[in-house]
Amino acid sequence: MPVRPNSFAFCGGAYGDEGKGRIVDQYVSDYAKHGPVFVYRDNGGSNAGHTVAFGNTKVALHQLLSGTFIEDVMTILGKGMVVHPGDLLAEMAAVKQATGGSIPATILIDEMAVVLLDTHRAYEAVLQDWQTGNRGTTGRGISPAYVDVLLRHPIRMRDLKPFTSEKIVKHYKLYQALIAGLGQNLAECAVPTLAGEKQIVGSEQVFVARVAEQATRLAPYIAGVFDVLSAAWADEKTTFVFEKAQAIGLDVRWGVYPDFTASDTTFGGIFASTEGIINPAEIGIRAGVIKATYMSSVGIRQLPSVMDAALANKIRQDADEYGATTKRPRDIVHFDVPATAFFARVGGLTHLVATHMDIVYPDTPIKVCVAYAQQGKTVSYRPDQAYLSTIAPVYQEFAPWDVTELQQAKTSSQLPRTAQTYLKFLEDSLGVPLLMITTGPKREEGIRFH
Ligand code: IMP
Repeated sequence: MPVRPNSFAFCGGAYGDEGKGRIVDQYVSDYAKHGPVFVYRDNGGSNAGHTVAFGNTKVALHQLLSGTFIEDVMTILGKGMVVHPGDLLAEMAAVKQATGGSIPATILIDEMAVVLLDTHRAYEAVLQDWQTGNRGTTGRGISPAYVDVLLRHPIRMRDLKPFTSEKIVKHYKLYQALIAGLGQNLAECAVPTLAGEKQIVGSEQVFVARVAEQATRLAPYIAGVFDVLSAAWADEKTTFVFEKAQAIGLDVRWGVYPDFTASDTTFGGIFASTEGIINPAEIGIRAGVIKATYMSSVGIRQLPSVMDAALANKIRQDADEYGATTKRPRDIVHFDVPATAFFARVGGLTHLVATHMDIVYPDTPIKVCVAYAQQGKTVSYRPDQAYLSTIAPVYQEFAPWDVTELQQAKTSSQLPRTAQTYLKFLEDSLGVPLLMITTGPKREEGIRFH
């Protein structure tokens, strides 16, 4: 399949929070200097999160895309997303506050994108009680909103423009009945907002009035995007950057069952979300972002490559490993090659981006899980907690590098020798070449390989 020039896609290559927001930001802002840029997102909702600095203000983006702060960039919230109107309006307000005026980029919400409401969040919480115990979700109502699609009764963005109350009332009554069936009262349920506060869902009347008000404010952004996308994809001077949310290790099919998110977190999701306009096989660079020396995870999955608690705590502090959306401390484990190689394969990666190369300690070798063993035999990664709990990791150790030397390097050949050895090992064992690495938290701290 011929590659469409000027097209880049980034996804999480492990269990999320690999730092892809920063990479996407970098590509969008670099290419925006030279011509038109489209940024497209096809999955997830406000379960995602990354922080963007604008002047002296930091804004957490959850549903808005990288590039929101750049003039003339077109950002599209695609059909495959589940969008919470209240959260989105709060995010838009935060962007306007940071810029002191308007939102620099253009925002289009596909009229086919799914509307995620507080009903979904309430149901997820109540269901979790029924399921006994924590299912590890972000509590943002993601699964119930996707389930509405499978059950063929989603509210789509086009149902908000023009707004008619009929569908919303019916929706409320459904969730009221589901929640009542589990012994609770929807109107009294408290659900999380973006700001971390709780909001009471309220009576049918209150709920419908809230959605109606949000619909009016969002209406200018809701549109059919099919023609705009087709035309821009055909014009090769327009750069496309695809920003995936979550990570392949959280995918509905490839994540660790039962702790996965409900969306397609691979590049495959772009095909369906754009209704076949954009075949991911045509995207020139499809990079999976990984943390170079360790992995993090938030949820209830128990990954096999458990790290000594003292080192895990040190990394958590040094790399600020706390959830952007939920502020939960992330679990820190050793880098896991069988899992990541599996994700690279099923995710269709052409490249790797390795972040956090500065998280390394002079006296501590980098311990990497290079294989899984079960009863003396080498076995593969499989996306199933019950299975993963039975395997024993096989480790290999690599020599660390000097962080000052790392950060002084301007090209890959100037990197410390031990860092070069380690990166070569990652490329060989994951079967994909490096696109870039990051060597520190600042934007300029990175080296492009291609
Ligand atoms: P949900 O997406 O809220 O349904 O959560 C499902 C699982 O994916 C949980 O284990 C979450 O912690 C995890 N998850 C969802 N979004 C992210 C993310 O952006 N980073 C890391 N983990 C996530």
